[in-house]
Amino acid sequence: MATHKLLLLPGDGIGPEVMKEVEKLIGWFAKRGVGFETEKDLVGGAAYDAHKVAISEDAMKRAQAADAVLFGAVGGPKWDGVPYAARPEAGLLRLRKDLGLFANLRPAICYPALADSSTLKREVVEGLDILIVRELTGGVYFGEPKELVTLEDGSQRAVDTQLYTTGEIERIARVAFDLAKKRRNKVSSAEKSNVMKTGVLWRQVVSRVHKAEFADAQLEHVLADNAAMQLVKNPKQFDVLVTDNLFGDILSDIAAMLTGSLGMLPSAALGAEDAVTGKRKAMYEPVHGSAPDITGKGLANPLAMIGSFGMALRYSFGLTEEADLLEKAVTNVLASGTRTKDLAAAGTNAVSTTDMGDAIVKELNALS
Ligand code: IPM
Ligand code: MG
Repeated sequence: MATHKLLLLPGDGIGPEVMKEVEKLIGWFAKRGVGFETEKDLVGGAAYDAHKVAISEDAMKRAQAADAVLFGAVGGPKWDGVPYAARPEAGLLRLRKDLGLFANLRPAICYPALADSSTLKREVVEGLDILIVRELTGGVYFGEPKELVTLEDGSQRAVDTQLYTTGEIERIARVAFDLAKKRRNKVSSAEKSNVMKTGVLWRQVVSRVHKAEFADAQLEHVLADNAAMQLVKNPKQFDVLVTDNLFGDILSDIAAMLTGSLGMLPSAALGAEDAVTGKRKAMYEPVHGSAPDITGKGLANPLAMIGSFGMALRYSFGLTEEADLLEKAVTNVLASGTRTKDLAAAGTNAVSTTDMGDAIVKELNALS
């Protein structure tokens, strides 16, 4: 039996609560012969409390050795005062950078049962199925110089650098076009070529990759601000939306709300294919973040974390049947009216984080 090496990094806030529900699923699949070898470690504020760093060297080694990392969430007001280099988010950014996870897949799917949970009208979001492909290891997140300096007159100056190279844009464009092939074969590329040099290069390179390698796909260029507007106005016009690190961060939060709740959006961060083994480094995480305001109250929606585990089954382990089964279970549980608080209509009953996890397990039992 092949075993799959998983590193669990629950992190802070609601991270550990939602990860616990995924551990139930790992147990469920293990009983049915899908072997997982799991390890657990600290990241973010939890790592800072224990080791005074956002992620230890030991945890980084384990992440490098794992077939996939499942990541919960990091951050919270408790760590507002920690040194910038050790802030909880630094752990996440280091994982992305050191593992070379340049391609971030953020699917936004509106489950039929949730079309009324979105703040947008049902007809705008019903049947929505878009995929945001966010560049994850470049751009303004990592560009140098990145500094905050005090000037002679005592005032300060802060600099972040937006930087992209041809190679970085080519490889993310290829990921987007490749994924589009299995979908509606349409790619929308978002940048600010009207203001930014990186946007000009982005547009040129995406066009070139399209023409040379994916000419049968439909490509459209859209300015990132317009993309934000179009996502709210008519999101179903999109299929795959490829964009840089910062625009992808913002546009994916907008996309999340189309699905009914930020608690619904999973994501996968993938590295390049290894030339020898064909394997990709990978990390899977919910888009929602640590949500300190609801931590420890049993209110968190575990479906984004569960969906992220589903993406691991699909993209890291090739367990398509298992991933489909899990998706079916989620669809059915939602269709039955089971909702965590973020999704429940006013005046209706909501279930706890644990109850939602149990409902998925129960449905998996019923389906298999
Ligand atoms: C995300 C988050 C992160 C980001 C934060 C926590 C650093 O917002 O994954 O979207 O900005 O990338
Ligand atoms: Mg974000």
